[in-house]
Amino acid sequence: MNETRSIKPSVLAPKNAARLARDAAAGLPAWSPTSWRAKPIVQVPDYPDLAALAAVEGRIASYPPLVFAGEARKLKKALAGVAAGEGFLLQGGDCAESFAEHHADNIRDFFRVFLQMAVVLTYAAAQPVVKVGRIAGQFAKPRSSPTEIQNGLELPTYRGDIVNDIAFTPEGRTPDPQRMEAAYRQSAATLNLLRAFAQGGYANLENVHQWMLGFVKDSPQSDRYEAIAARITETLAFMRACGIDSDSVPQLRSTDLYTSHEALLLGYEQALTRVDSTTGDWYATSGHMIWIGDRTRQPDHAHVEFCRGVENPIGLKCGPSMEADGLLRLIDLLNPDNEPGRLTLIARFGADKVAEHLPRLIRAVEREGRSVVWSCDPMHGNTISANGYKTRPFDRILREVETFFSVHRAEGTHAGGIHVEMTGRDVTECTGGARDITAEDLSARYDSQCDPRLNAEQAIELAFLLAENLKRERDHKATGLASPQGVTTGV
Ligand code: TRP
Ligand code: MN
Repeated sequence: MNETRSIKPSVLAPKNAARLARDAAAGLPAWSPTSWRAKPIVQVPDYPDLAALAAVEGRIASYPPLVFAGEARKLKKALAGVAAGEGFLLQGGDCAESFAEHHADNIRDFFRVFLQMAVVLTYAAAQPVVKVGRIAGQFAKPRSSPTEIQNGLELPTYRGDIVNDIAFTPEGRTPDPQRMEAAYRQSAATLNLLRAFAQGGYANLENVHQWMLGFVKDSPQSDRYEAIAARITETLAFMRACGIDSDSVPQLRSTDLYTSHEALLLGYEQALTRVDSTTGDWYATSGHMIWIGDRTRQPDHAHVEFCRGVENPIGLKCGPSMEADGLLRLIDLLNPDNEPGRLTLIARFGADKVAEHLPRLIRAVEREGRSVVWSCDPMHGNTISANGYKTRPFDRILREVETFFSVHRAEGTHAGGIHVEMTGRDVTECTGGARDITAEDLSARYDSQCDPRLNAEQAIELAFLLAENLKRERDHKATGLASPQGVTTGV
């Protein structure tokens, strides 16, 4: 709130000025970091103490940003490459981060598996991989019901550690604004470690074998990974002999890892929305990329209003209820200038529904000439209940990914990314995979506070499947088979 007051019209950048003019012409009230407050909103916590909430938001508004505008612009540029068919978006992490699990080991294990996936994709598909974690800010959860009943007691549902506690007690479930500050500080610490890993040597391609450590030795995926690692090491040795090594070429010794989360808790997002001093544009500085969930994407509601005004790359989840017209309306609102890299559409239909829903959305977007990144979330449409646990059968996850790719092959469009819930640890939350986790196995290491995640092995197995599909897409392009009219070859 302080921010809006401190911005004088004279410092508005051309982009902001253009947006104000467009809003005025369309009869829309001008966007500001607070304009969402005048809109209808769903999925908001019921804070009992609004004065305490305002005080916390005011404090966070005075804290340093977590990410910088220049980084968000760099990510947008990388995503523009993906939208143009060159590159692949790898987005993943916990369903929800938690205060209790905030350990260096967890962050390192996630990062290591993420790097392994990235290596498999970069090498096997020969495509640049844009790496975006669901991390350092992924705390708030939308829920299907505002309350939950246990043994006759009705309490508010758990909305993520940034809002309330998972413990089913009246104190635990009461939304507590203080948690926003804890989430901010945890995000800062997580981001600090990620930056160190990404830039400080851990991500050096010369370490490609060391990322194996911690991997279960007899893992079915480890031989495949080992083979790729061996070829990369060989290539690096050859390049070293040619005078190119990680001392001379920074790209070999570091990587860019970006952060993302669902922009659900808008008071928190607003407090971290800042004007970039170099361009005068507004940026969400809570993470590099933010997305709008399938439950909060009403075009006249608060979440779309907030997201349309910040310059970050934006994700939009598209579930089975998304119609082509509704999608185009949202694209008009969120990316009126058709800026490549601005908008990523994250399809989350379910293995059985993707073939039915995705083609008409792709055709509408193509017909209107809109630049988007098409990404596949194969998790959220494939959740079932087994043995008292929420789980996701790995074969359905793979099937949604396969179908996503085959639809894009048929339409002649680029399958640009994947969005997964995963962890670097050996959990038993999704059934199936090379180790064939059964419903009975789920109880062994079911650690998720929210949705079931892929474990390390399942994540790498998925990466190999993605790499095969990307290779196939590239071969089709090279031989001219993937014509815009969509010639399928039956794969
Ligand atoms: N910098 C390049 C990239 O990020 C190459 C690279 C360095 C890399 N370390 C990596 C790729 C780790 C994957 C994983 O793509
Ligand atoms: Mn989830």
